[in-house]
Amino acid sequence: KKGNFEHFMQKEIHEQPDSLTMTMRGRLIRGEQRVKGVLLGGLKDHLRTIRRSRRIIFIGCGTSYNAALASRPIIEELSGVPVTMEIASDLIDRQGPIYREDTAIFVSQSGETADTLQALEYARANGALCVGITNTVGSAIARGTHCGVHINAGCEIGVASTKAYTSQIAVIIMLALALGDDSISSQRRREAIIDDCFNLPSKVRDVLKLDQDMKELAMLLMEEQSLLVFGRGYNYATALECALKVKEVSLMHSEGILAGEMKHGPLALVDETLPIIVIATRDGSSSKQQSVIQQLKARKGRLIVMCTEGDAQSMCPDGTCRVIEVPQVQDCLQPIINIVPLQLLAYHLTVLRGFNVDQPRNLAKSVTTQ
Ligand code: UD1
Ligand code: BG6
Repeated sequence: KKGNFEHFMQKEIHEQPDSLTMTMRGRLIRGEQRVKGVLLGGLKDHLRTIRRSRRIIFIGCGTSYNAALASRPIIEELSGVPVTMEIASDLIDRQGPIYREDTAIFVSQSGETADTLQALEYARANGALCVGITNTVGSAIARGTHCGVHINAGCEIGVASTKAYTSQIAVIIMLALALGDDSISSQRRREAIIDDCFNLPSKVRDVLKLDQDMKELAMLLMEEQSLLVFGRGYNYATALECALKVKEVSLMHSEGILAGEMKHGPLALVDETLPIIVIATRDGSSSKQQSVIQQLKARKGRLIVMCTEGDAQSMCPDGTCRVIEVPQVQDCLQPIINIVPLQLLAYHLTVLRGFNVDQPRNLAKSVTTQ
């Protein structure tokens, strides 16, 4: 049931304050008497094994892969365990090495994706600890993993994943907090993240107010052939996920680009016509993004800059960029905020271009064949 909404994708984007609340419910411990912490019922008996593993491998497809990529830095930071990323089909194609000392984490909204499932069978046969992050209780991946976490985002109907993406990131951040639980040196950092997890639903509600602005931006962009999205650090995944949303539903070519790679090819595309979104919210790499913006402007790039509220002037001093200002949260949580206006942009682009939002051409919600 779509309620007051015209499409499931729209409904699911707007549901995110509630889906995130459901994802975190009962799993975050408030401070006061008890030390702030995280309780993931499905993993509590396995955390020691994960902490001691030689490597954590994230495995997924599409949006689920992007969610893992968005949360990779905080897993590395708080666990100290090296993290590698695998697109499920590529792992299978290569028969990449997996060992008993590895923890393989399978991220899948449906829990039924054929490639991810095959990678799970492969990793299990090689003796790795297999962890699932799924939205679907009783799904093949939930059943086939040794342990895991349900994201509890509620049923997602739109083929393009939206609320599952933000809930997957939230779960992986909680996993990072749980893995770092035994470290005193990171306690302050973990507490700051937990505080912001509690603020997340209301900040998502704030950013959803950009709906009309995103519709106006979509009107400006609707006739374009292509849209580039530059991100780095925590928001490299945001760039990939924005581009994936735009191409899968609005059928406009779009590419997410790691800003650090700009000079190694993508810069050749820049001119005064091609629209480029640059994600430059405040974090450890925003000064580098500021310089990316300057270099793109020097080549007359047509820029749309996403920055932290109050940073429009410093990020784009001459006022020639279109700006999307978003509220600030802890750096690792920022991808959850940043993707929301971009989901809205993809949604409005699709409606304006007259395409099917909930069932994009040639795509399926759950890809159960290879
Ligand atoms: C569980 C209950 C929840 C209840 C809560 C109260 C279920 C599905 N969840 O939530 O209803 O409110 O206890 O304490 O009954 N698992 C996998 N692979 C996956 C996902 C999960 O093996 O991909 C396993 C977990 O290791 C765990 C079980 O499934 O054994 C349930 O996981 P999850 O729902 O995340 O656990 P809780 O949050 O503790
Ligand atoms: C399909 C869906 O391609 O599978 C995407 O259309 C999704 O939205 C991808 O990201 C992976 O699905 P799942 O269920 O494994 O997360």
